[in-house]
Amino acid sequence: MNTKTLVIVLIGVSTLFLMAFIKPFSTNESWEVPAKYKKMKNPLAGDKDSGRVGQSLYVMHCKSCHGKTGLGNGTKSKSLKTRLPDFTQKEFQDQTDGEIYYKTIFGRDEMPSYEKKIRDDEDRWLLVNYLKTLKK
Ligand code: HEC
Repeated sequence: MNTKTLVIVLIGVSTLFLMAFIKPFSTNESWEVPAKYKKMKNPLAGDKDSGRVGQSLYVMHCKSCHGKTGLGNGTKSKSLKTRLPDFTQKEFQDQTDGEIYYKTIFGRDEMPSYEKKIRDDEDRWLLVNYLKTLKK
């Protein structure tokens, strides 16, 4: 092996090493929501009674991973490979209601789908409303 090849191999190996090292600290792959959902109107936007029902749905289905206050520190979070989002942060809160609805209902990988578990459309929007109240 000449020096040039050795240098190239070394660069390759260290790049792989760095990628493996950086991965746990990086953000998740971006999650594109189809335009149809992104623009979807929340029929219960501004509903003042959303809190209680939304919260009980959250406690029942979501708290184990996302944590009591949405920080992403639920009891199950440690056993997951995917970094959990922080619902109190601006990046999350800046999404449209439709985007949050889509991600909640369809899920991906370690985020389960709730298409079958939460069938009532009104319940789904109440949950979206509740997630929006977790804002700091
Ligand atoms: C088994 C653990 C688990 C449970 C239970 C769970 N989630 Fe998630 N959730 C995740 C993970 C992991 C991600 C990150 C997914 C990704 O980015 O690939 C996520 C991501 C999300 C996102 C997208 C966040 C963002 O930054 O855009 C929303 C919204 C969400 N979850 C809502 C919910 C709701 C609402 C419930 C309950 C109905 C719930 N999740 C239950 C694990 C879970």
